[in-house]
Amino acid sequence: MAPEPEDEIKDEKNPPPLDEDDIALLKTYGLGPYSTSIKKVEKEIKEMAKKVNDLCGIKESDTGLAAPSQWDLVSDKQMMQEEQPLQVARCTKIINPNTEDAKYVINVKQIAKFVVGLGDKVSPTDIEEGMRVGVDRNKYQIQIPLPPKIDPSVTMMTVEEKPDVTYNDVGGCKEQIEKMREVVELPMLHPEKFVKLGIDPPKGVLCYGPPGTGKTLLARAVANRTDACFIRVIGSELVQKYVGEGARMVRELFQMARSKKACIVFFDEVDAIGGARFDDGVGGDNEVQRTMLEIVNQLDGFDARGNIKVLMATNRPDTLDPALLRPGRLDRKVEFGLPDLESRTQIFKIHTRTMNCERDIRFELLARLCPNSTGADIRSVCTEAGMYAIRARRKTVTEKDFLDAVNKVIKGYQKFSATPKYMVYN
Ligand SMILES: Nc1ncnc2c1ncn2[C@@H]1O[C@H](COP(=O)(O)OP(=O)(O)OP(=O)(O)O)[C@@H](O)[C@H]1O
Ligand SMILES: [Mg+2]
Repeated sequence: MAPEPEDEIKDEKNPPPLDEDDIALLKTYGLGPYSTSIKKVEKEIKEMAKKVNDLCGIKESDTGLAAPSQWDLVSDKQMMQEEQPLQVARCTKIINPNTEDAKYVINVKQIAKFVVGLGDKVSPTDIEEGMRVGVDRNKYQIQIPLPPKIDPSVTMMTVEEKPDVTYNDVGGCKEQIEKMREVVELPMLHPEKFVKLGIDPPKGVLCYGPPGTGKTLLARAVANRTDACFIRVIGSELVQKYVGEGARMVRELFQMARSKKACIVFFDEVDAIGGARFDDGVGGDNEVQRTMLEIVNQLDGFDARGNIKVLMATNRPDTLDPALLRPGRLDRKVEFGLPDLESRTQIFKIHTRTMNCERDIRFELLARLCPNSTGADIRSVCTEAGMYAIRARRKTVTEKDFLDAVNKVIKGYQKFSATPKYMVYN
């Protein structure tokens, strides 16, 4: 019995070189039964994605977004010289649609009506009644279908660059995240579940809670996660100078949203426009109220709403108009309360993640020292702690800095906190 372990030791000291069979065997370690086939499928998916990207690239070249290496400035210039500017007209009627000799009635801005044919580059299926079209100036033939006219300031509200906030950057708020995702993601990912049950998916969510509890933050996380188009509107942007402008912007906003496959519209600080209606005693009715009523109208969706989800955020839910909040318009109401101890610890950890801190700081103790504080307060504590470290010309932040910062922020700034006021009103 004894020599065996000795043998092993000898082998370990002087192991025989691996031959090819051994290497082949080693390579199979950790592989599941389907690894090779999974790898193959992954490779195929990659190739397919590359193909799709290539094709998309070709499509992008005619919107002018192609890579600089594909630019052909000379021929572009030539083309621009050859082409004449088109005129915008509206196609009001199609005579003999779906036949060879279809004719189109166009209405050129206040000048005249014409019956015209199509240009060479337009297919009859592209043109519908009531559409805006581009016509040339000689024969008034329809050269190009145009998208509906949308206010540039509305177009600017689309969020194209994704914010860098993810669900991981939101401390606590587990329930809120869950509720929000249910409304936003489930109907988009599994519409069949709702169809099977025969219910309409919820249309919108209202987020409310004291200032600085992460309402805007969570909306940004949603924008980051979703593939749907995300439109962000700040309530005050819809308050305009002239009568009817705000309502028109809302209409165009939803028109734009409807043209997308899936879309999330986020109204931040909605109390700017959603205030309860009242009589101001002067007799003039309020423009802001009209804007709000247009939102109500769009939420009801006399036109089919498609896959549009509406999120709203406010910190004064008591001032909102009841019509805006009734079920069927905003079905879900999610309260963002003050974070509890565990959430506060988590928020501390999130905000100190990028800071150069001493090791083993007792975040739980710090969280315990800031009762009734919001996420924004905690963030401010972290910043102040950093300031203390800078003042002392240190490169790392110590626990003492944090304790000083807690004293300064939580105790010192209590007067400015808006949370008690919020609690009184709600
Ligand atoms: N749960 C949280 N987790 C991490 N950070 C938070 C959290 N809540 C708030 N914060 C911090 O506070 C900052 C302000 O939060 P946010 O802008 O979401 O407030 P809000 O709820 O929209 O307030 P308001 O009602 O005044 O608009 C955020 O940028 C974030 O740094
Ligand atoms: Mg906000």
